[in-house]
Amino acid sequence: MLWQAALHVRASPMPRIAAIGDLHATTTDAGRFAPLFAEMGREADLVLLAGDLLDLGQSAELEALLADIAECDMPVVCVLGNHDYYSGEVPALTQSLRAAGVTVLEHEIFHFGDLDIIGFKGTVGGFNRMLAPIAETEVVAFANLSKLDAERFERTISSSTSARRLVLMHHAPIVDTIVGEAVEEYVFMGSSRYAEVIDRHMPDLVIHGHSHFGTLEGRTPGGVRVFNVAMQIPRPDGRIYSLFDV
Ligand SMILES: [Fe+2]
Ligand SMILES: [Fe+2]
Repeated sequence: MLWQAALHVRASPMPRIAAIGDLHATTTDAGRFAPLFAEMGREADLVLLAGDLLDLGQSAELEALLADIAECDMPVVCVLGNHDYYSGEVPALTQSLRAAGVTVLEHEIFHFGDLDIIGFKGTVGGFNRMLAPIAETEVVAFANLSKLDAERFERTISSSTSARRLVLMHHAPIVDTIVGEAVEEYVFMGSSRYAEVIDRHMPDLVIHGHSHFGTLEGRTPGGVRVFNVAMQIPRPDGRIYSLFDV
């Protein structure tokens, strides 16, 4: 593998990545994440945010968070999560993030040296046993959400020509990293249609958030390592973010 789980001492000249998801920042959180972004900027060469930056998806929440993100001296790349969509302000939020220098990916690629970061939010749908699209119009539309989004993901990752690729998403592509959630909620945690795409293209690492009660690490059926970097997931080193040498 071209990456390894983070060590406290840099072992190679490979870029070190700090990743965290699900900050769920509110208007009363101003300043709360400033030390976190300052630390990630010191520890890593690149910071990835795996969605749910905000709790209600409001511009006022983002205004407070952007002041904290400004404490980070390294590039910040994010995907949005379902909570960021909650208030219907995604175009304004995206514009504000980009104006502040934060890269927002939605089925887009960020080139960081020879590492390609393929980023997108993803969606719901469930795992391993897909709902057959033979039903009422609304149910078919639901079943098609992840199918169409996974097709879009495949077009994006197919366009990457880098030998080293990292997938950044909000929803989960496998069950392993959502174990701990109520089984009834699995269908809302992500979709294994993404794992099918991942295993056809074999990126070096997949990072997601969204599952606050899930599990830190897992693998796709094809063996690609997947990390749930939601802030709420306990790490062995006690941090609330994860470090990777990619
Ligand atoms: Fe979340
Ligand atoms: Fe979420």
